[in-house]
Amino acid sequence: MPQLAYVDGRFLALSEAGVSVEDRGLQFADAIYEVAAVMNGALLDWPQHLARMRRNLAALFIDLAMSDAALTAIAGRLLRANAQRDALLYLQVTRGTARRDHPFPKAARATVIMTVRRFDFRQRVAQQRSGIAVITVNDMRWRRVDLKTTGLLANVLAKQDARAAGAFEAWLIGADDMVHEGASTNAWIVKAGRIITHPLSESILPGIARASLIRLARGAQIPVVERAFSLAEALAADEALLTSTTAPLLPVVRIDSVAVGNGTPGPVAARLAALVWDDIAAQTGWRP
Ligand code: PDD
Repeated sequence: MPQLAYVDGRFLALSEAGVSVEDRGLQFADAIYEVAAVMNGALLDWPQHLARMRRNLAALFIDLAMSDAALTAIAGRLLRANAQRDALLYLQVTRGTARRDHPFPKAARATVIMTVRRFDFRQRVAQQRSGIAVITVNDMRWRRVDLKTTGLLANVLAKQDARAAGAFEAWLIGADDMVHEGASTNAWIVKAGRIITHPLSESILPGIARASLIRLARGAQIPVVERAFSLAEALAADEALLTSTTAPLLPVVRIDSVAVGNGTPGPVAARLAALVWDDIAAQTGWRP
């Protein structure tokens, strides 16, 4: 059976699925998206993804006449049809299709796209043992990166720089000299037993994995400080790490080729990763 995708009311073979060339998602990146993990056939943190999506739609005045229950039903149908146990669910909502003109079209209806693609979360278990490297680049994005829009060109270029340098991620350094976040992950350091991450603001994406880690760490009496940290501070940290849907928790052992701590994953990252995997197991039954 071919892979199925959902586009604008229809379930189609992924290879046949498409949108109009006049879709505003294509022409203006006038669109928001979500990526949710499917582990052991179950969606992780799905209500949180839906809630973030609603906030983004409201912030951009995109009307979506589809309930959370309807979106969940589509997701369920794609998961069953595609029969993946470990996958990424991708959901995009654009402002719709209209003749190209910058202002909002009067009569456009939002386009909804959903796909499910297999994803290997096991690779993260190996990367957790070795730790990963990041490079740093200037944060060239617009000023509302708290909104999860598909306008990701600066993130794409940063990630490509990371790949070219043999690194897993690029940390985006703001004009304020602070580490904002990664190209597709949130950034953390550990200092004297405290974990530190950029506060929620218009300069970072409010990651679902970030919120989970804060909740889990506080529940385990590990102090969390939400404040900005500089690259210099990160280079002098005891440990560093990153979080996201696609990498629930990975230790960062090198920043721009400089070892963090002793250059191997540290004890706080190991403890936090155990908390994260336990939470994933409780929600989905998936175990590393
Ligand atoms: N990226 N920061 C940025 C810029 C991101 O794009 C992402 C997610 C995160 C982490 O957010 P979350 O914990 O909700 O996944 C932080 C997704 C996975 C992507 O674009 O593929």
